[in-house]
Amino acid sequence: MTDILIDHSASITTLTINRVDKKNSFTAAMYSAMADALEQAQADAAVRVVVLQGHETVFSAGNDIADFLKIPPTSLDAPVFRFMRAISTFSKPVVAAVCGPAVGIGTTLLFHCDLIYAGDNAAFSMPFVNLGVCPEAASSLLAPQRMGYGRAAEALLLGEPFMAEAALEMGLISRIVPPAEVNALAQRQAQKLAAKPGSSLLHTKRLMKQGQASLVAQRMDEEATLFGRMLSEPAAREAFTAFMEKRKPDFSKF
Ligand code: COA
Repeated sequence: MTDILIDHSASITTLTINRVDKKNSFTAAMYSAMADALEQAQADAAVRVVVLQGHETVFSAGNDIADFLKIPPTSLDAPVFRFMRAISTFSKPVVAAVCGPAVGIGTTLLFHCDLIYAGDNAAFSMPFVNLGVCPEAASSLLAPQRMGYGRAAEALLLGEPFMAEAALEMGLISRIVPPAEVNALAQRQAQKLAAKPGSSLLHTKRLMKQGQASLVAQRMDEEATLFGRMLSEPAAREAFTAFMEKRKPDFSKF
């Protein structure tokens, strides 16, 4: 699977989203590859840290819209939901390196990462309403918690993007650096983490997230069931068809 590059070195597993011609949008096969890699990294005691990175120009345009229409995720076993469960329950530290657009799951997966380094070109967005669907990856729970309700409402109800500076100010990301330096910084920080006592890292991450795990799992399933249903409804059909036809959607009837 070359759309997801997987590198294992020095106790660090690095997943690189590598489909730049389609803006690193995720197909079902890519979700499966990432879920498999996370499950293996979780089980392998030699892996201490995971790094998730994209390209200097784009992190991810979210779900591949054509693939979503072809293989809609109608059950909780769908690859996209398997990936969400794998990243949200991953017990070891996850370092993310984000440059350029981070759309939909490109942003919501970050709620489940620990250290997030962003290029000054990073643009985060969760345009689910604009696509006639609902939030996913427990973002309806975690965005208001992490960003405050007012900011989350702009991001989730209006689907408005926000830039790296705003994300830093809200505490969503750890640091901003020039795009060309983001992946290297993520690796350096991952190396620092990998040199620390593994059990301390595991306990610290677990304690920081304590009380959230079952709420997150429950919300994720509720969102997933609704998301799967909404995908086949007219508003989503119109939004997705409009994207494929490179025109503005017309929601006047929905
Ligand atoms: N699914 C499928 N293909 C996608 C895609 C997606 N989510 N995002 C981009 N692409 C494709 C485009 O169709 C285009 O393909 P083509 O060259 O065969 O025509 C190619 O990637 C380049 O995209 P383009 O829109 O021309 O790039 P841009 O730099 O002008 O804009 C984005 C980048 C990410 C802002 C824009 O592509 C975008 O908004 N994508 C959709 C995001 C989205 O709604 N995701 C779903 C979230 S659930």
